[in-house]
Amino acid sequence: MIPQNGDRKLRLGVNIDHVATVRNARGSHYPNPLQAARLAQSAGADGITAHLREDRRHISDQDIFELMEGLHLPLNLELAATDEMQAIALKHRPHALCIVPEKREEVTTESGLDVIGQKDRLARFVAPLREAGCRISIFVNADDKQIECAQAVGAEIVELHTGAYCHYAIEGDKAALSHELQRVASAASFAASIGLEVHAGHGLTYDTVKPIAALPEIVELNIGHFLVSEAIFRGLVDAVTEMRRLMDEARCEINSLIEGS
Ligand code: PXP
Repeated sequence: MIPQNGDRKLRLGVNIDHVATVRNARGSHYPNPLQAARLAQSAGADGITAHLREDRRHISDQDIFELMEGLHLPLNLELAATDEMQAIALKHRPHALCIVPEKREEVTTESGLDVIGQKDRLARFVAPLREAGCRISIFVNADDKQIECAQAVGAEIVELHTGAYCHYAIEGDKAALSHELQRVASAASFAASIGLEVHAGHGLTYDTVKPIAALPEIVELNIGHFLVSEAIFRGLVDAVTEMRRLMDEARCEINSLIEGS
């Protein structure tokens, strides 16, 4: 089920975690994630994403409070499926919650969640959050069985992990890149066919975003590390504006193909 005409605009969620990483490197109060979120909004972001990690290595509880109070865009809170995070989510009730796996020793979210391996626990985690009115997304690898299970535990959205695809782009391994892109495309198509909303993200850059943005079932991309990095050289507004432009360009191209077919 491909989103219909008029719904085809691809949303950009800007992940501001690494604004907080820079702040925390010196234990100072700057740069401020809310200020970054407002700049991202002015550059065309449709939403803001922040990951409150168990070890609080970047985003803090106070950041979530400030984003909930001061942001005029939907907040997508990434969180691990723990009792602590459930209580925080129920207190703030952000627009959306994206459940991710979390390991203390990892540098970033290395893989999608193993939904199948913790089905009952996840169903119990999700139920009160849905009742509280939050949209539930689960970050998964491009795997139909995991996607099906995400829906079974109550998610209405899956976010597909694009990390492997981006990794092969950096390595310059064209065969593996093409294989990964196919996997994401096929997973997006399967997820949409069973009625899930499809998002994607992780590791996306100006060089890798267009093939993912061109997948017609995907309605939102969440992008962070590259945008914050690029902001060092060109400013956050410019960095986000350029990502927005590339996404819209890819989506326009695919829309004209669909309409012409
Ligand atoms: N989506 C999810 C679920 C993530 O965990 C992350 C990383 O925090 C992203 C998207 C964004 O990845 P990146 O910062 O590499 O753009």
